[in-house]
Amino acid sequence: EEILKQEQERFIKENLLSDEMIELLKENIMPFNTLMAYYRCAIMEVETKFKVLNEEFSLQYDRNPIESIKSRIKSMDGIFKKAKKKNIPITMEGIEEGIRDIAGVRVICSFPEDIYMLADCLLKQDDVVLVERKDYIKNPKPSGYRSLHLIIEIPIFLQNEKKMMKVEVQFRTIAMDFWASVEHKVRYKKNIPDSEAEQLAAELSSCADQIAAMDNKMEEIRRRIAEAEEREAE
Ligand code: GTP
Ligand code: MG
Repeated sequence: EEILKQEQERFIKENLLSDEMIELLKENIMPFNTLMAYYRCAIMEVETKFKVLNEEFSLQYDRNPIESIKSRIKSMDGIFKKAKKKNIPITMEGIEEGIRDIAGVRVICSFPEDIYMLADCLLKQDDVVLVERKDYIKNPKPSGYRSLHLIIEIPIFLQNEKKMMKVEVQFRTIAMDFWASVEHKVRYKKNIPDSEAEQLAAELSSCADQIAAMDNKMEEIRRRIAEAEEREAE
């Protein structure tokens, strides 16, 4: 009882919370922390799947399709801001149902074709359920943003139950990731004058096209190297 109260107060102090959020957490601080722990478990499951695929692929083809994996849990603040923005009821169920990117896994690949290969391998697994697929590589956003986004559900196995958890997986090449990180900085800078921001957006959009062309060229070069090696081996 006392520990619970301390925990509540610590949370409320550490996160500048809205009244609604404080209300939810007063009743639900333990369930909320438990839910976040489940999302961390779901991330571990998804990361392991990719590490296994990377290992298998590197044995088979002698190269790693995955350059790196970056995972994150959405912050409290982020969760509540999004709930507000999307009119999702601030309840445990509302959050779990309505916010699908609380657990996020970003898979950075060397080449575009690796992205589709890895996404297919993941979705073929019989414990992975596809909820939504958005291909911003084939259909880039107006900003120029490119990535393949999947919302999936995967089970985590607890003491007495199997629980399906939603995870957002973003696949990008190194170049797409570089672009997104620079563009993100411009997008969220508050004191850039409108005219300057407009010009930067146009330049970034042009950079996105150049990056896409380069990714395709690099992929073609990689393929030609592999073909030359095969001919040599014959
Ligand atoms: P959100 O409410 O932002 O989650 O939008 P959504 O549910 O329609 O998801 P969407 O698949 O469009 O994008 C979700 C995530 O993709 C964002 O949180 C970013 O990480 C990334 N993203 C989408 N568009 C852009 C963009 O134009 N620039 C950058 N840098 N990242 C983007
Ligand atoms: Mg999102």
